[in-house]
Amino acid sequence: MNVIPAHQGRPSDDPIFALNKEATARRARGESIVNATVGSLLHDDNRLAILPTAARAVHEVPAEEWAPYAPIAGAPDFLDAVSTDLFSTEPEMKASAVAVATPGGTGALRHAIANYLEPGQSLLTTSFFWGPYQTLCDESDRKLATFSMFDGEGKLDTVALDKALADHLTTQKRALLFINDPCHNPTGYSMTPAEWRAVVERLLAHSAQGPITLLCDTAYFAYAARPDPRAFLKELRPLLGKVGLGFAWSASKTFTHYGLRVGAMVACVPDAKERAATEAALSYSCRGTWSNCSRGGMRAITRLLTEPALARSSDAEREELKALLGARVTAFNHAATARGLKYPRYEGGFFVTVFTDDAHERAMRMKEKGVFVVPAKGALRVALCSVAEKDVPRLVDALAE
Ligand SMILES: Cc1ncc(COP(=O)(O)O)c(C=O)c1O
Repeated sequence: MNVIPAHQGRPSDDPIFALNKEATARRARGESIVNATVGSLLHDDNRLAILPTAARAVHEVPAEEWAPYAPIAGAPDFLDAVSTDLFSTEPEMKASAVAVATPGGTGALRHAIANYLEPGQSLLTTSFFWGPYQTLCDESDRKLATFSMFDGEGKLDTVALDKALADHLTTQKRALLFINDPCHNPTGYSMTPAEWRAVVERLLAHSAQGPITLLCDTAYFAYAARPDPRAFLKELRPLLGKVGLGFAWSASKTFTHYGLRVGAMVACVPDAKERAATEAALSYSCRGTWSNCSRGGMRAITRLLTEPALARSSDAEREELKALLGARVTAFNHAATARGLKYPRYEGGFFVTVFTDDAHERAMRMKEKGVFVVPAKGALRVALCSVAEKDVPRLVDALAE
């Protein structure tokens, strides 16, 4: 085998996709299956939920827009539309923003790892995290370290964060922190403004020790249960110019077009010279990985973000999907509280995590009963985004038994 030894023995299939394949095959054979593994929002009849306005915008992109290459860093109007979307309430952040197009939020995470850590250094994130964070680190020859996500009261453990930041700055002289909020995958947790303030305080407290970068993974931003998804940004204001601030923006969930592969890495860099250098580094990374992104995809998403009629109707359609998901969340909270399941505060979002010591065995037993969830260390990830409200009691019963 010519593959380098370090890459031999890598798993060929993502475990979540493998579970989904098994669930789908059993359902196709006529079994009654509850499949809580899929990370996409599905209607109750298992059809993928697609915003009709977004689908129309994609179809209206002419061939002349699909066929050519896009600029390496992304279409300028797309990049402006993304930072306007993120920072509509934060003019200072908007003024300092530099952005490049990436294939989904995944590409932005990749660029952050490659540009804010030296090879061999460790990314820092919460102890529950989206598995591909590890894959992205492996692929870039970086490592991944975690801090305990929840304290004894079930809040974000900022004491553990503080200690981990200190360790990273001592051992590697820099730190890169990924925080996925709101609707954290896999726990479903959404931080309060006070929790964000506490994180910012910890970051600032260590900022003199070396370069720190906070990367906010906003993949589920549009599904926040709280009325103003941008509220957390004002808590981040004190970081500007002191701690590096970046955002992984994604159209996948926001516009229900996961396969369109549209996203962006946005960084706030108040100093003009540093901003130009950041833009050059990120753009170089684009050239050195995927070269450029889907021009037609960017066109469609730009229209959805900037044309008022399209933005209004996609927002209204998304509200319907949020209501669909919200009903499942309410049903889950109701049943799970009654059955005494242990899980973080869950207000909304695609996933929730149930804590259990025997995750793998429990997931196996659940699978025998036709209920599929994703086991991890000490927890089961439950994708409510793919479970009909009527199936939630069966799902909770299987989790509790
Ligand atoms: C936490 C998290 N971050 C980022 C992503 C990136 O998705 P995409 O690359 O499709 O934008 C996902 C997708 O599932 C996710 O769950």
